[in-house]
Amino acid sequence: MIEHNVINNTKLFILLKKYPFLEAYFKDNNFDIIGHEAGTFSSFLNTLDEEYLEDMAIDKHEACRQLSTYLNSMLEFLGEDKTDVLSITIFPGTNKSGEKENYDKLKINKGDIVSIVGPTGSGKSRLLADIEWVAQADTPTKRKIFVNDDVPDNKWRFSIEDKLVAQLSQNMNFVMDLTAKEFVELHARSRMVENIEEVIGRILTQANELAGENFAPDTPITSLSGGQSRALMIADTAILSKSPIVLIDEIENAGIDRKRALSLLLSEDKIILIATHDPTLALLGDKRIVIKNGGIDCVIETTAEERQVLAELEVMDKRTKEMRTKLRNGERL
Ligand SMILES: Nc1ncnc2c1ncn2[C@@H]1O[C@H](COP(=O)(O)OP(=O)(O)OP(=O)(O)O)[C@@H](O)[C@H]1O
Ligand SMILES: [Mg+2]
Repeated sequence: MIEHNVINNTKLFILLKKYPFLEAYFKDNNFDIIGHEAGTFSSFLNTLDEEYLEDMAIDKHEACRQLSTYLNSMLEFLGEDKTDVLSITIFPGTNKSGEKENYDKLKINKGDIVSIVGPTGSGKSRLLADIEWVAQADTPTKRKIFVNDDVPDNKWRFSIEDKLVAQLSQNMNFVMDLTAKEFVELHARSRMVENIEEVIGRILTQANELAGENFAPDTPITSLSGGQSRALMIADTAILSKSPIVLIDEIENAGIDRKRALSLLLSEDKIILIATHDPTLALLGDKRIVIKNGGIDCVIETTAEERQVLAELEVMDKRTKEMRTKLRNGERL
């Protein structure tokens, strides 16, 4: 349940972004909110003149109540039958040359960390997108994704609350006039967490630890640097998202503390897929999917020997990080 006053204090463009089905609701009920998206629903109602309200038999208070009743019933409807995602299975499609992919089927279980490797342009992001969209032979790769060994329920594709995948690459432009704290608060409220201030505090603290440069809670989202907004998204996802799958695309480019980010994300009981060119990240996975020419070529299990390479890489990583800090501080290397 989303509280009545939360809905009525939320700006319309945010409501529409989160719950696209509201567009039809407003239209069907003759609420012409176009041009009023920057305000709340009640501020929109206040722009209507009394005569019009009377003609249309609209009671402002009642209209607000109906909106929240509708939204909550809709969410309940979409979110009913909450099933746990225990596994996803990827069935072969075709590579860029139209040839069938060279594997039988690939099952990934809850708790698995899988990396995806392959040359630039080979199709790593495409594979993540197939999973995100729960492809049913309807993407360029013609792959099919099953959830819990079965044809997936449509809710994984279309429901807002039950989204299969936490989107870490999503851009945050839609929250443009919110501060970092307001953004997190909005999300926390929609998740109905109880100790809201504590959760907000935890997310902001984690985000600041991930980002190189600290930011204040009242910093507008638009003023955050790329790395800072990415850090905020990661902390927010790790702590608030209920999505059973986390897809990470090229986290290393975000200029944040990757290992810390990963350990934050890994603390949840999820399926994690990481597309990366970085050996340290790739070796964090239990196995790695190798992509060639748009197709899954093979799956390699991470061996004990490779884990030893990981230790070596970590030393090198630490050195690189020290250099990066110096570079950022304008020191000589
Ligand atoms: N099996 C396929 N069939 C048709 N097109 C494909 C297939 N796989 C990938 N593509 C297309 O190839 C292009 C490059 O793929 P993608 O962006 O996934 O590469 P990438 O491995 O993520 O590269 P980078 O490492 O640079 O991020 C995309 O346009 C994608 O849709
Ligand atoms: Mg990519």
